[in-house]
Amino acid sequence: MKQQLETIRDSALQELAETKTQAELEGLRVKYLGKKGELTAILKQMGKISAEERPVMGQLANEVRGVMEDHMAQRAAQLKEESLKARLEAEKIDVTMPGVPCELGAKHPLSIVLDEIKEIFVGMGFEIVEGPEVELDYYNFEALNIPKDHPARDTQDTFYINDNIVLRTQTSPVQIRTMEKQKPPIRIISPGRVYRSDAVDATHSPLFHQIEGLVVDKGITFADLKGTLETFVKRLYGEDSVVRFRPHHFPFTEPSAEVDVQCFNCHGEGCRLCKNEGWIEILGCGMVHPKVLSNCGIDPEKYSGFALGMGLERVVMRRYNIDDLRLFYENDVRFLKQF
Ligand code: PHE
Repeated sequence: MKQQLETIRDSALQELAETKTQAELEGLRVKYLGKKGELTAILKQMGKISAEERPVMGQLANEVRGVMEDHMAQRAAQLKEESLKARLEAEKIDVTMPGVPCELGAKHPLSIVLDEIKEIFVGMGFEIVEGPEVELDYYNFEALNIPKDHPARDTQDTFYINDNIVLRTQTSPVQIRTMEKQKPPIRIISPGRVYRSDAVDATHSPLFHQIEGLVVDKGITFADLKGTLETFVKRLYGEDSVVRFRPHHFPFTEPSAEVDVQCFNCHGEGCRLCKNEGWIEILGCGMVHPKVLSNCGIDPEKYSGFALGMGLERVVMRRYNIDDLRLFYENDVRFLKQF
């Protein structure tokens, strides 16, 4: 029996040394020490040996079991360590390796300036509102007091989807949509794409951007409009900019005006930028027409307001000295990368 015990011990230890996984190790444990294991089988024969030999063999069997258990525990620890090392090895990263460069894009010049304009108005308490680009004739023209025979309503100038639906030609319909939904006080700007049926050239595009502004409340006057616009222009073009208002006509404002800034290139002397005029037109504006207010269910006896609208492309072209509008839409990275 002594020999059997030693053989079991030796072969168990040898097999143990060859195990490669925890599962194999567990298999060995069952094979030798389990209920039906080889060592257990020998212990079951203890009854058959003589009374003198029994304690000696008992002790030896316990020793063998102890040795096997110790070695198994050691091997288990070793295997665990090895698998951890292998994992670390596999996950190793070399932090000194050069990175894969990721090319950064640049903000589109239209977005740069639009963000700036938004920030100026938000700073004055305006909210930003958007409206649909495919618009009902009613919002784009009718509710804005633009008569049926107005030249802007000609199919030559406007993209009609059908008799009632157009691609909006201005951001002014957002005024109507806002006033229908929201009671005064209203203070919004609405930037967005607008469409006109123009042939493409250096200064025309069938798609361009406008920014609309609208303020409606009790007691709003032309002085509020002037003050707001002066603040806006000074923030955009610098504290020393000079603003001038010229009488104009828009069907949805009365009185109406166009606003010029003194040319910031020649300070009014006349240069190529301002086409020798000394002034540059930047926006249209006026007091909201009483008919437009009442079209939206706002009582013109109680409330008044002003509106303004400007083209974004022009502002950006002057800012960066860009002389061809088409550059904005062609997505040529050589152009776009410069901003
Ligand atoms: N929507 C007008 C245009 O496209 C601009 C404008 C807006 C004028 C608001 C006055 C008030 O010409």
